[in-house]
Amino acid sequence: MIKHYSVLLKESVDALNCKPDGIYVDGTLGRGGHSLEIAMRLQTGQLYAFDLDEQALTESQLRLAEVADRVTLIRANFAQMQDELNLRGVYGVDGVVMDLGVSSPQFDDAQRGFSYRYEAQLDMRMDQSQPLSAWNLVNELDEKELSALLWKYGEESYSRSIARQIVKARAVSPINTTFELVDVIKKALPAKVLNKKGHPAKQTFQALRIAVNRELDSLETGLQAAMSLLNPNGRIAVITFHSLEDRIVKEAFRKVSSVEKIDPRIPLLPSQIAQPKFRLISRKPILPSGEELAENNRSHSAKLRVLERIGD
Ligand SMILES: C[S@@+](CC[C@H](N)C(=O)[O-])C[C@H]1O[C@@H](n2cnc3c(N)ncnc32)[C@H](O)[C@@H]1O
Repeated sequence: MIKHYSVLLKESVDALNCKPDGIYVDGTLGRGGHSLEIAMRLQTGQLYAFDLDEQALTESQLRLAEVADRVTLIRANFAQMQDELNLRGVYGVDGVVMDLGVSSPQFDDAQRGFSYRYEAQLDMRMDQSQPLSAWNLVNELDEKELSALLWKYGEESYSRSIARQIVKARAVSPINTTFELVDVIKKALPAKVLNKKGHPAKQTFQALRIAVNRELDSLETGLQAAMSLLNPNGRIAVITFHSLEDRIVKEAFRKVSSVEKIDPRIPLLPSQIAQPKFRLISRKPILPSGEELAENNRSHSAKLRVLERIGD
């Protein structure tokens, strides 16, 4: 089994203030690190853990065997958490954790095609039953769509020249594998970029992965679902790994935790101004400790933001 190191584990689960009889959601089960930590704090409570990836559910079932009576595993997108929980008779929750993105086992399993480090078919699907894969995007989008995708989800400054090079290469034969795509990307980049630190395909691979899995749409919907499910004093803890995710979380949390700006010319009593239903636990994100940074390279870009539903 490929090891998965859970990022900001203690910080995020502590932030939920778990009650032994509470109802919790782990939106991103992965290898069950956060789920196990939450479930161990429950007695009569229940944890509902979501993942799109069949393998994540199978492997976590073993890891969570000792707390199986307190955990319900659900193979679904966390964007659908409200419907999925309602189906199970759950209409309110005391905490939600989301540890976004791809897990180390997904990255490190060469066959999944997430990594530019291993040769594999272009795939990148978290949900392997979904028809759309990275192959379809790379081989079927037109040049303009490809360039827009690389810019929007990868913030790739050379999006246009990479898109042009992809279209040129696939006119000869389809781009089937990760290494074929890396070669095409390298051809599109100037020497000064190729000689810089960091892999030249990093941003393109990030962009494709986000698009294949519709990660940012799911995040926006999932956050709204979590907020509507949250009981008074309940909390949402979200761990992000890049600026696009973090911006969405930061903005969604800011919006529900601040007083709506009202035209000062409108005469309103303080009691007539709607007060926010949520509060931020800290204005700045919580970052991994020096110890965690030293132990786990993947934690370097991690940021934790926590929101609380104000008590009635
Ligand atoms: C970073 S890993 C989570 C690791 C986990 N916290 C642990 O400690 O083992 C992210 C997991 O969330 C899943 N995932 C990502 N986006 C999802 C979504 N929208 N709905 C459900 N699962 C998702 C991925 O398949 C992956 O297994």
